[in-house]
Amino acid sequence: MRDVAQRLLEWYDRHARVLPWRVPPGGSRADPYRVWLSEIMLQQTTVAAVKSYFERFIQLWPDVHSLAAADDSAVMAEWAGLGYYARARNLLACARQVAAEGGFPVTRAGLQTLPGIGPYTSAAIAAIAYDQPETVVDGNVERVVARLFAVETPLPAAKRELVDLAETLTPNGRSGDYAQAMMDLGATICTPRNPACVICPLSDGCAARRLGIAPELPRKAPR
Ligand code: ADE
Repeated sequence: MRDVAQRLLEWYDRHARVLPWRVPPGGSRADPYRVWLSEIMLQQTTVAAVKSYFERFIQLWPDVHSLAAADDSAVMAEWAGLGYYARARNLLACARQVAAEGGFPVTRAGLQTLPGIGPYTSAAIAAIAYDQPETVVDGNVERVVARLFAVETPLPAAKRELVDLAETLTPNGRSGDYAQAMMDLGATICTPRNPACVICPLSDGCAARRLGIAPELPRKAPR
Protein backbone atom coordinates (compact mmCIF):
# COMPACT_ATOMS: atom_id res chain seq x y z
CA MET A 1 0.00 0.00 0.00
CA ARG A 2 1.02 3.59 -0.38
CA ASP A 3 2.90 5.17 2.44
CA VAL A 4 0.91 5.36 5.68
CA ALA A 5 1.90 8.99 6.27
CA GLN A 6 0.82 10.05 2.81
CA ARG A 7 -2.59 8.42 3.13
CA LEU A 8 -3.09 9.86 6.57
CA LEU A 9 -2.17 13.38 5.43
CA GLU A 10 -4.55 13.17 2.47
CA TRP A 11 -7.30 12.16 4.89
CA TYR A 12 -6.37 14.97 7.28
CA ASP A 13 -6.55 17.53 4.49
CA ARG A 14 -10.23 16.68 4.15
CA HIS A 15 -11.23 15.73 7.69
CA ALA A 16 -9.05 17.59 10.20
CA ARG A 17 -11.01 18.67 13.26
CA VAL A 18 -11.24 22.43 13.52
CA LEU A 19 -9.84 23.26 16.98
CA PRO A 20 -9.02 26.68 18.43
CA TRP A 21 -5.30 25.96 18.87
CA ARG A 22 -4.80 24.61 15.37
CA VAL A 23 -3.79 26.18 12.11
CA PRO A 24 -5.59 24.64 9.09
CA PRO A 25 -3.87 21.65 7.37
CA GLY A 26 -0.93 22.75 5.30
CA GLY A 27 -1.02 26.13 7.00
CA SER A 28 1.82 28.10 8.52
CA ARG A 29 3.48 26.92 11.70
CA ALA A 30 1.55 27.26 14.91
CA ASP A 31 2.61 29.65 17.68
CA PRO A 32 4.62 27.63 20.27
CA TYR A 33 2.81 29.41 23.12
CA ARG A 34 -0.59 28.31 21.84
CA VAL A 35 0.64 24.77 21.15
CA TRP A 36 2.21 24.51 24.60
CA LEU A 37 -0.86 25.90 26.40
CA SER A 38 -3.22 23.54 24.56
CA GLU A 39 -1.04 20.48 25.08
CA ILE A 40 -0.74 21.14 28.84
CA MET A 41 -4.52 21.54 29.07
CA LEU A 42 -5.06 18.37 27.01
CA GLN A 43 -2.76 16.23 29.18
CA GLN A 44 -5.58 14.93 31.37
CA THR A 45 -8.65 16.63 29.94
CA THR A 46 -10.79 15.96 26.85
CA VAL A 47 -10.70 18.08 23.70
CA ALA A 48 -14.35 19.08 24.23
CA ALA A 49 -13.69 20.34 27.75
CA VAL A 50 -10.45 22.15 26.87
CA LYS A 51 -11.82 24.34 24.03
CA SER A 52 -13.49 27.05 26.12
CA TYR A 53 -10.67 27.15 28.69
CA PHE A 54 -8.13 27.59 25.94
CA GLU A 55 -10.06 30.46 24.36
CA ARG A 56 -10.46 32.20 27.72
CA PHE A 57 -6.75 31.88 28.55
CA ILE A 58 -5.77 33.26 25.14
CA GLN A 59 -8.10 36.22 25.61
CA LEU A 60 -6.70 37.01 29.03
CA TRP A 61 -3.05 36.14 28.33
CA PRO A 62 -2.33 36.18 24.58
CA ASP A 63 1.38 35.45 24.89
CA VAL A 64 3.88 33.90 27.27
CA HIS A 65 4.96 37.27 28.65
CA SER A 66 1.46 38.24 29.74
CA LEU A 67 0.93 34.84 31.36
CA ALA A 68 4.30 35.07 33.10
CA ALA A 69 3.26 38.42 34.58
CA ALA A 70 -0.16 37.20 35.75
CA ASP A 71 -1.13 36.84 39.40
CA ASP A 72 -0.99 33.24 40.56
CA SER A 73 -4.48 33.55 42.01
CA ALA A 74 -5.96 34.79 38.72
CA VAL A 75 -4.47 31.87 36.81
CA MET A 76 -5.57 29.32 39.41
CA ALA A 77 -9.10 30.79 39.31
CA GLU A 78 -9.28 30.48 35.50
CA TRP A 79 -7.91 26.94 35.70
CA ALA A 80 -10.65 25.89 38.16
CA GLY A 81 -12.60 23.00 36.64
CA LEU A 82 -9.72 21.60 34.60
CA GLY A 83 -8.43 19.74 37.66
CA TYR A 84 -4.93 18.46 38.39
CA TYR A 85 -3.77 21.75 39.87
CA ALA A 86 -0.12 20.76 39.72
CA ARG A 87 -0.49 21.41 35.99
CA ALA A 88 -1.52 25.02 36.63
CA ARG A 89 1.40 25.59 39.00
CA ASN A 90 3.80 24.10 36.44
CA LEU A 91 2.16 26.22 33.75
CA LEU A 92 3.06 29.40 35.60
CA ALA A 93 6.56 28.21 36.49
CA CYS A 94 7.12 27.29 32.85
CA ALA A 95 5.75 30.59 31.50
CA ARG A 96 8.05 32.55 33.83
CA GLN A 97 11.11 30.53 32.86
CA VAL A 98 10.34 30.88 29.14
CA ALA A 99 9.69 34.62 29.47
CA ALA A 100 12.95 35.07 31.39
CA GLU A 101 14.83 33.15 28.69
CA GLY A 102 13.21 35.21 25.91
CA GLY A 103 11.20 32.42 24.28
CA PHE A 104 10.56 28.69 24.07
CA PRO A 105 13.53 26.37 23.42
CA VAL A 106 13.58 25.21 19.80
CA THR A 107 14.47 21.55 20.30
CA ARG A 108 12.64 18.65 21.93
CA ALA A 109 15.50 18.17 24.40
CA GLY A 110 15.45 21.85 25.32
CA LEU A 111 11.68 21.81 25.80
CA GLN A 112 11.97 18.86 28.18
CA THR A 113 14.03 20.93 30.63
CA LEU A 114 10.90 23.02 31.38
CA PRO A 115 8.42 22.39 34.22
CA GLY A 116 5.47 20.23 33.18
CA ILE A 117 6.96 19.22 29.81
CA GLY A 118 7.77 15.53 29.43
CA PRO A 119 8.46 13.26 26.44
CA TYR A 120 4.93 13.53 25.05
CA THR A 121 4.49 17.30 25.31
CA SER A 122 8.00 18.08 24.06
CA ALA A 123 7.44 15.95 20.96
CA ALA A 124 4.05 17.55 20.34
CA ILE A 125 5.45 21.10 20.52
CA ALA A 126 8.49 20.28 18.38
CA ALA A 127 6.31 18.65 15.71
CA ILE A 128 3.35 21.05 15.73
CA ALA A 129 5.09 24.38 16.35
CA TYR A 130 8.48 23.73 14.73
CA ASP A 131 7.64 21.07 12.12
CA GLN A 132 10.41 18.82 13.44
CA PRO A 133 9.96 15.10 12.61
CA GLU A 134 9.43 14.05 16.24
CA THR A 135 7.10 11.14 16.93
CA VAL A 136 4.18 12.04 19.17
CA VAL A 137 2.77 9.03 21.02
CA ASP A 138 -0.31 9.32 23.23
CA GLY A 139 -2.96 6.72 24.00
CA ASN A 140 -4.67 7.32 20.65
CA VAL A 141 -1.47 6.78 18.72
CA GLU A 142 -0.62 3.64 20.72
CA ARG A 143 -3.96 2.18 19.68
CA VAL A 144 -3.57 3.07 15.99
CA VAL A 145 -0.06 1.60 15.86
CA ALA A 146 -0.97 -1.54 17.84
CA ARG A 147 -3.68 -2.23 15.28
CA LEU A 148 -1.71 -1.35 12.14
CA PHE A 149 1.01 -3.82 13.14
CA ALA A 150 -1.23 -6.23 15.11
CA VAL A 151 0.95 -5.91 18.22
CA GLU A 152 -0.26 -8.59 20.64
CA THR A 153 1.99 -7.60 23.55
CA PRO A 154 -0.22 -6.09 26.25
CA LEU A 155 0.18 -2.58 27.59
CA PRO A 156 2.09 -1.29 29.43
CA ALA A 157 4.84 -3.76 28.40
CA ALA A 158 4.22 -2.88 24.72
CA LYS A 159 4.99 0.83 25.12
CA ARG A 160 8.60 0.74 23.87
CA GLU A 161 7.66 -1.47 20.92
CA LEU A 162 4.80 0.84 19.97
CA VAL A 163 7.03 3.93 20.11
CA ASP A 164 9.63 2.18 17.92
CA LEU A 165 6.96 1.21 15.39
CA ALA A 166 5.42 4.69 15.46
CA GLU A 167 8.84 6.17 14.71
CA THR A 168 9.10 4.07 11.53
CA LEU A 169 5.96 5.80 10.21
CA THR A 170 6.85 9.43 10.97
CA PRO A 171 7.40 11.42 7.76
CA ASN A 172 9.99 14.11 7.23
CA GLY A 173 7.64 16.88 6.14
CA ARG A 174 4.35 18.22 7.55
CA SER A 175 5.27 16.92 10.99
CA GLY A 176 2.64 18.93 12.84
CA ASP A 177 -0.18 17.93 10.51
CA TYR A 178 0.93 14.30 10.67
CA ALA A 179 1.04 14.23 14.48
CA GLN A 180 -2.43 15.74 14.72
CA ALA A 181 -3.75 13.47 11.97
CA MET A 182 -2.73 10.43 14.05
CA MET A 183 -4.52 11.92 17.07
CA ASP A 184 -7.65 12.65 15.02
CA LEU A 185 -7.69 9.18 13.48
CA GLY A 186 -7.46 7.64 16.95
CA ALA A 187 -10.14 9.93 18.35
CA THR A 188 -12.69 9.69 15.53
CA ILE A 189 -12.15 6.46 13.52
CA CYS A 190 -9.71 4.09 15.21
CA THR A 191 -11.70 4.31 18.45
CA PRO A 192 -11.33 1.93 21.39
CA ARG A 193 -14.61 0.08 21.03
CA ASN A 194 -16.23 0.23 17.59
CA PRO A 195 -13.50 1.30 15.16
CA ALA A 196 -14.93 2.59 11.88
CA CYS A 197 -12.63 0.45 9.72
CA VAL A 198 -14.86 0.80 6.65
CA ILE A 199 -14.06 4.51 6.40
CA CYS A 200 -10.46 4.32 7.67
CA PRO A 201 -7.82 5.66 5.26
CA LEU A 202 -5.35 3.05 6.60
CA SER A 203 -7.59 -0.04 6.52
CA ASP A 204 -5.85 -1.62 3.50
CA GLY A 205 -2.60 -1.91 5.37
CA CYS A 206 -3.99 -2.68 8.82
CA ALA A 207 -2.82 -6.06 10.11
CA ALA A 208 -5.38 -6.18 12.95
CA ARG A 209 -8.22 -5.57 10.55
CA ARG A 210 -6.97 -8.35 8.29
CA LEU A 211 -6.91 -10.69 11.31
CA GLY A 212 -10.33 -9.51 12.52
CA ILE A 213 -8.96 -8.38 15.89
CA ALA A 214 -8.91 -4.57 15.57
CA PRO A 215 -11.45 -3.93 18.38
CA GLU A 216 -9.40 -6.17 20.73
CA LEU A 217 -6.17 -4.20 20.42
CA PRO A 218 -4.21 -2.92 22.19
CA ARG A 219 -4.39 -5.70 24.77
CA LYS A 220 -4.01 -4.66 28.38
CA ALA A 221 -2.29 -6.62 31.12
CA PRO A 222 -4.66 -7.47 33.97
CA ARG A 223 -4.15 -5.02 36.81
N1 ADE B 1 -4.80 15.79 22.18
C1 ADE B 1 -3.62 16.23 22.58
N2 ADE B 1 -3.11 17.13 21.71
C2 ADE B 1 -4.02 17.27 20.73
C3 ADE B 1 -4.10 18.04 19.54
N3 ADE B 1 -3.11 18.86 19.21
N4 ADE B 1 -5.18 17.89 18.76
C4 ADE B 1 -6.16 17.05 19.13
N5 ADE B 1 -6.16 16.30 20.21
C5 ADE B 1 -5.10 16.41 21.02
